[in-house]
Amino acid sequence: MRHIILTSILIFSVTIGLAQNPVIIPPVLSGTNFNLNIQSGTQSFYPGTNTPTYGINGPFLAPTLIVNKGDSITLNVTNNLNISTTIHWHGMHVAPQNDGGPHQIISPSTTWSPSFKVRNNAATYWYHPHGDGKTDLHVSKGIAGFLIVKDSAEAAITLPRTYGVDDFPLVVQTKAFDVLTQIAIATEDDTALFVNGTLNPYLNVPAQVVRLRLLNGSSMRTYQFGFSSNMSFKIIGGDGGLLDSSITADRIRMSPGERYEILVDLQGMTGQTFFLRNFGSELPIGIYGSSAVGIGADTIPYYSLNFRNGADYDVLQLVVGPPLPNGVTTIPTSLISDTAWNISSVNTNRTFYLNADSMNHRAEGPFNINGDKFDMGSIDVTTYLNNVEIWKWVNNTLIAHPIHIHDMHFYILSINGNPPPAHESGRKDVVLVLPGDSIEFITRFETFSDAMVPYMYHCHLLHHEDDGMMGSFLVLDTLSSSIQVIKNSSLYLKAFPNPSKEEWNITGTSKYPINTITLFDITGRVVTSLPEITNFNEINLQVSNNRLSKGIYVLQLENGESVQSIRLIKN
Ligand code: C2O
Ligand code: CU
Repeated sequence: MRHIILTSILIFSVTIGLAQNPVIIPPVLSGTNFNLNIQSGTQSFYPGTNTPTYGINGPFLAPTLIVNKGDSITLNVTNNLNISTTIHWHGMHVAPQNDGGPHQIISPSTTWSPSFKVRNNAATYWYHPHGDGKTDLHVSKGIAGFLIVKDSAEAAITLPRTYGVDDFPLVVQTKAFDVLTQIAIATEDDTALFVNGTLNPYLNVPAQVVRLRLLNGSSMRTYQFGFSSNMSFKIIGGDGGLLDSSITADRIRMSPGERYEILVDLQGMTGQTFFLRNFGSELPIGIYGSSAVGIGADTIPYYSLNFRNGADYDVLQLVVGPPLPNGVTTIPTSLISDTAWNISSVNTNRTFYLNADSMNHRAEGPFNINGDKFDMGSIDVTTYLNNVEIWKWVNNTLIAHPIHIHDMHFYILSINGNPPPAHESGRKDVVLVLPGDSIEFITRFETFSDAMVPYMYHCHLLHHEDDGMMGSFLVLDTLSSSIQVIKNSSLYLKAFPNPSKEEWNITGTSKYPINTITLFDITGRVVTSLPEITNFNEINLQVSNNRLSKGIYVLQLENGESVQSIRLIKN
């Protein structure tokens, strides 16, 4: 099903000329109540063609949401498509039922309305669909928007922050088109380059300090950004917030899902033009976007035919106009103070091996994590509220995978035993793990627990994610869910151990004889009918679970007067 249509793409690619389209600056929605209408539409990307697209509140892409830390917001997401989808708030610290992962399905003609308090620090986040096996298609067809969080720590620093004037959101994406100019996925033909949904874009910027909020919203491609003039810039923030201090750089590598905020000093440059450029020739092999992925025959078919791979090319033209009154003229050195969790508080270490399903397809995939493919009904990792953990990622494949964890941010502790570069040492939610690399990060599972609804971790190469390179984790509250007690009833139950690998012991009391005991899976299907137990006022059951697959189950007991259920987790 891959590698459909090389020739048509090459025709389009040679038509790419000079920057000729003003880059679209997505409209802003702000406040605390947001109405987001997912819809289909068409765009004429190339003369004489019509491409079916998806968008939010418009035919393509989505508005920028600007919210304040501490505000309680409601997002009414209406699905006007004729297929189900989901919307995930990438990087936001929210309860699992508000996360918009594959379990929060929005059926056609329905509205999903998560409400939550904004707890994140000021930074650039984004939102995009996350349906089971459908992420690449829905994102590629156009659904992706910025979510900008503001807070008082950021507001206290002199920084450009006038949206669309000196503070610009820029999402860079490559897309593939098939012979009918429909957006195609699962090909290596992503030759069309968009910034904010604009082909051949230019941006008018004032001759002062400007802020670029860069997001790599591509399905597969990593970029090595810099400027055509090789001028340096300052990195001020990453995925989860501002850095401690600004960092001088002339390149920044960004894998899918990653965000960086940079400041560029354009003072004295009125009348000049230059380009944000991708220096793809500098990317190490193994990264999608570099000159090669794989070794010998174990490679991605047709990869080398995509002219963007391993190449240097312009991404966005910057046209410098006169400075504005009161424009920012300085670049701060120190920004915020932010410290990682202490290693001494770590209570769990886990290792995740990134593997190919087959040893002959270590570049092309499909891939898995610790031998497991994503399964909607099962839980891969169970952790506890307030656990501080080190997660280690080992890449046994021949392609680099950007690993993303939902809800929590992390700090990279080491990359092959060495500390991360300064700009990667802040709060992050995506980290690129190169072939052969071993990366450790520290994280803490704060604020939210839920015994039923999991969060996701996955590769943010959307084709890999859709193929199952994703796992789920539950955050349990040790006080309320490992031993669940149902009080004020004629029936009283608890279970231990829970989660368990082998068996659950269910104990409790019942005023009346138990009539029925039923075990359900997460979809409500009866798994097993257990024998009837009579005249037991003291309940004492051993439920062997070693033939059950991993996941969440519900055991229901009924004593004629009362029905009680207890959630059981099989590890
Ligand atoms: Cu940006 Cu789980 O995704
Ligand atoms: Cu991957």
